[in-house]
Amino acid sequence: MTKDVSKHDNAAFYNDEQLFHALQVRKSTRTYNGVGLTSEHLQLIKDYLQDEKQMTGVFGHTFRIEFMNDINIDEQISTYGYIKEFKAILMAISKPEPSALFEMAYVLHGLVLQLTEAGVQTVWLGGAFDHKDAIGVSGIQDDEIIAAVIPIGYESSKKRLLFDYIAPVILGAKHRKDMHTVYFDGDFNTPLDENTTKYYEALDLARRAPSAKNKQPWRVIIDEENECLHLYALFSLRDEVGTGRKQYACEPEYLDLGTYFKSLELGLRHQGLEGRLIIKDPLIEIPDDLDIVYIATWIED
Ligand SMILES: Cc1cc2nc3c(=O)[nH]c(=O)nc-3n(C[C@H](O)[C@H](O)[C@H](O)COP(=O)(O)O)c2cc1C
Repeated sequence: MTKDVSKHDNAAFYNDEQLFHALQVRKSTRTYNGVGLTSEHLQLIKDYLQDEKQMTGVFGHTFRIEFMNDINIDEQISTYGYIKEFKAILMAISKPEPSALFEMAYVLHGLVLQLTEAGVQTVWLGGAFDHKDAIGVSGIQDDEIIAAVIPIGYESSKKRLLFDYIAPVILGAKHRKDMHTVYFDGDFNTPLDENTTKYYEALDLARRAPSAKNKQPWRVIIDEENECLHLYALFSLRDEVGTGRKQYACEPEYLDLGTYFKSLELGLRHQGLEGRLIIKDPLIEIPDDLDIVYIATWIED
């Protein structure tokens, strides 16, 4: 799709409506065709990474997104053979603080959607890359981690049985949890009746966001009366955080909530609903047996 200059204040980027389309068509790609990015696509990445508005998170934390082009996978960053033939990669570097991780993923998923709309494929990787390799090429500080990397390129027409067909089936990649499993009405004991919420379209679409192991850890309490959405994360991958092979450098759920909120916000805007994100825990009772943590609240303007 061509960029629509008239609807966006910065002609370098696709507008919200175009990104709404990207939300619907994006999927992870694990086998690339080995072709380098075009100059137009390189420019899109460069413009995004230099654009203050695009790079500003919701709470003003700092993080770094490094871009590496023309890389040699075998020598520079191993994905254990899991992701093939990409030539470029984004690295998400931050202090391991929940809000910073959430915001970084929100910003980076904005770039993923820009790339999707431009016809460039991506895959978020939290565990399936060699952290030692990545640290070697990124020059991170002692108090920083590489929370995720995103190989970028063009999908190969030659797909691999194990990684392109079987892995998505195991992950249930196309599958998303039902709305009443992740959305609640007022408290965690009352699943949302999707017919009664005015946020239906946005909530429905936001479930397409990518998440580690497709766990979809977002849980949202809808407070229709006060026109706000309380965002929580349900943790299930804490045991897989560490420094070993295929482990996550941080709880990936914080990143998942970032990709989710980017998607939710686009869906809300598509419905004509503007709002802002604040951190003010509504202190809603959390069931004892669930590892759920409050993240933030979206309030309609
Ligand atoms: C924070 C994060 C970490 C991820 N880590 C990996 C990973 O290590 N390996 C992998 O193959 N996919 C990884 N994924 C991709 C998910 O498996 C994928 O998004 C999910 O299965 C849904 O499929 P889809 O992206 O095609 O919609 C990750 C996604 C996110 C958001």
